[in-house]
Amino acid sequence: MTNSNVHLIDHPLVQHKLTLMRRKDASTNTFRRLLNELSSLMAYEVTRDMAMQEVEVETPLETMKAKIIDGKKLVFVSILRAGNGILEGMLSVVPGARVGHVGLYRDPKTLVAVEYYFKMPKDMHERDVVIVDPMLATGNSAIAAVERLKELNPKSIKFVCLLTCPEGIAALHKAHPDVPIYTAAIDRQLNDHGYILPGLGDAGDRIFGTQ
Ligand code: URA
Repeated sequence: MTNSNVHLIDHPLVQHKLTLMRRKDASTNTFRRLLNELSSLMAYEVTRDMAMQEVEVETPLETMKAKIIDGKKLVFVSILRAGNGILEGMLSVVPGARVGHVGLYRDPKTLVAVEYYFKMPKDMHERDVVIVDPMLATGNSAIAAVERLKELNPKSIKFVCLLTCPEGIAALHKAHPDVPIYTAAIDRQLNDHGYILPGLGDAGDRIFGTQ
C-alpha cells in the first residue's frame, strides 16, 4: 500500500465473499450472511495487535502460564445503521467486547454527517475503539464519529470498513492521520451522490432489505 495507515485485507476468503456481495442479484439473506462471515475474517486482522496478558492455567497434566486477551477492553463502535451489519461477525470472534453506537445520517444535499444518537460504554479512556461502517465513502460520517470519540480520550481508535475509495481514504486521513483504516477493497471513485463506484450499492439497504 502507498499509505501505511491503510490495511488492505486481501485474503482470498475475504476477496471471494466481497465479490459475491457485490452482485446486484445477491439476496438480502445472502448479503447479510456473507457480511457476517467476512466481518469475522476481518476481525482477525484488526485484532492482530491486541494486548495480551499471561494467566496461570491448569491443564489436565500441569500448571502453565498462557496468554489471554481482555476482550472487555475493546469497544466496537457501530455507525448506525449499516455498521450493525459488521458487528455480529466481529462479536463472534471477540464475544467479550463492549459495543457503542453512533447515529449519523448524511444530509442528502450537503452529504454532511448529522449526529442523532451517541451511546458508549463507561471508562472509554481505558479502551481500544474499533469503529465499524461497511462503506468509507465521502468520509464525513467517519470523521464526525472519530471526532466525537476522541472527546472521550480512548487508548486507540481504528476504522474498519468493507469498501472504500481514494476520496474516502484521503478525507479521513487528512482529518485523522492517526487512525488506521482496515478495508477489504479500495474501489475506483466516488460518484456525485457520494456512492462508491463500482461498489456494492447502498450497504444499509442491502443488509436490511429496504431497497
Ligand atoms: N454508503 C453506501 O451504502 N454505499 C456507498 O456506495 C457509499 C456510501
